[in-house]
Amino acid sequence: MSATHAVAAPLNVERVRRDFPILSRQVHGKPLVYLDNAATSQKPRAVIDAVVDFYENYNSNVHRGVHELSEEATRAYEAARAKVRAFVNAERDEEIVFVRGTTETINLVAASYGRSHVHGGDEVLISAMEHHSNIVPWQILCDEKGARLRVIPMNDRGELLMEEYVKLLGPRTKLVAIAYVANSIGTVNPIAGMVEMAHERDVPVLVDAAQAAPHLALDVRALGCDFLALSSHKMYGPMGVGALYVRKPILEAMPPFQGGGDMILSVTFEKTIYNTLPYRFEAGTPNVADVIGLGAAIDYLNGLGMDVVAAYEHEVLEYGTETLLAVPGLRLVGTAREKAGILSFLLDGIHPHDVGTILDREGIAIRTGHHCAQPVMDRFGVAATARASLGVYNTKSEIDALAAGLRKAIDVFQR
Ligand SMILES: Cc1ncc(COP(=O)(O)O)c(C=O)c1O
Repeated sequence: MSATHAVAAPLNVERVRRDFPILSRQVHGKPLVYLDNAATSQKPRAVIDAVVDFYENYNSNVHRGVHELSEEATRAYEAARAKVRAFVNAERDEEIVFVRGTTETINLVAASYGRSHVHGGDEVLISAMEHHSNIVPWQILCDEKGARLRVIPMNDRGELLMEEYVKLLGPRTKLVAIAYVANSIGTVNPIAGMVEMAHERDVPVLVDAAQAAPHLALDVRALGCDFLALSSHKMYGPMGVGALYVRKPILEAMPPFQGGGDMILSVTFEKTIYNTLPYRFEAGTPNVADVIGLGAAIDYLNGLGMDVVAAYEHEVLEYGTETLLAVPGLRLVGTAREKAGILSFLLDGIHPHDVGTILDREGIAIRTGHHCAQPVMDRFGVAATARASLGVYNTKSEIDALAAGLRKAIDVFQR
């Protein structure tokens, strides 16, 4: 964990909590302690209101109508694109493509950029801590092309081995695709340095920022990456929407991903002329309401300040690390020096699923299983872990409640 976050955070967490209606509900008669934010985050009132406002007041399709509602919807949809652009610090709005989520962005890049740049004998380089969404699309591509998927290994703390990365970057490497923050163990990877090393060899880099977007300030220009993927629902926005950033010269040269309405300028049976960027990659009616909701989530995060969010969450993560390590028989899986938002753990002699079930009775929501990262489980020699993942509204007293719930689980199983 980096010393740069050491200052006390000015985030008013009680005020933040009041913005999230769901946090006042009870589960099994206990106050909800929601610690499954890596799966999906809760939504602030501002995001819910933005979606409702769309449907109540200006529901209409975008980019097509000459009527007022369509113009209002189009303005709001494009305003959300500008918000995403600013949020990731991209240079131009047309570098932002709206999709269904991180999974779809990676499939888009694999199917479009991948198919046209990766050929027999080439290599795609990923890491040992990727979510299945950043593994399977590349496997499909490699199978189709006769290419090879290579994997950067990690050490026992869950940190990538940079000396192995450098060795794996070779003349056959056509793309590096890597998580900024690992969803199963919380490692924050040194993306800027990794991009620099790849670029020295003219290899483009895709950053899976699904777990970074809610926790860290994103800056595609500082990172230097060529592609970046994020999911709205993990950063306090609605489900069913995500964004892909692609550096303009690369996006301009990419063939379309899907064909249909909105991605064309003109169609005859003989020839179709594709639309300009980014619409060429947004075939069909987009998820307008939820894109607007994503814009509201970005406004919300900006209102808090991403640096403030990162500092606050870091403090809670450090507290959580210490508190959990004091629970007898608890082992953390993933102890990287740079971490964000995730506490993955095992309790001696108790299956993670049982841990999760007992916590649920206490109103505490965590995730148990392989977290869509089975190779990570294999690397640590476990079938599953219990994972508490933090959001901006989580408090130290909720960490105490988690630790108390774990002690209860130990009592139940030692009886
Ligand atoms: C690191 C990472 N990448 C990709 C995904 C897939 O995101 P989505 O399901 O929103 O497409 C997730 C979801 O958990 C994730 O944590």
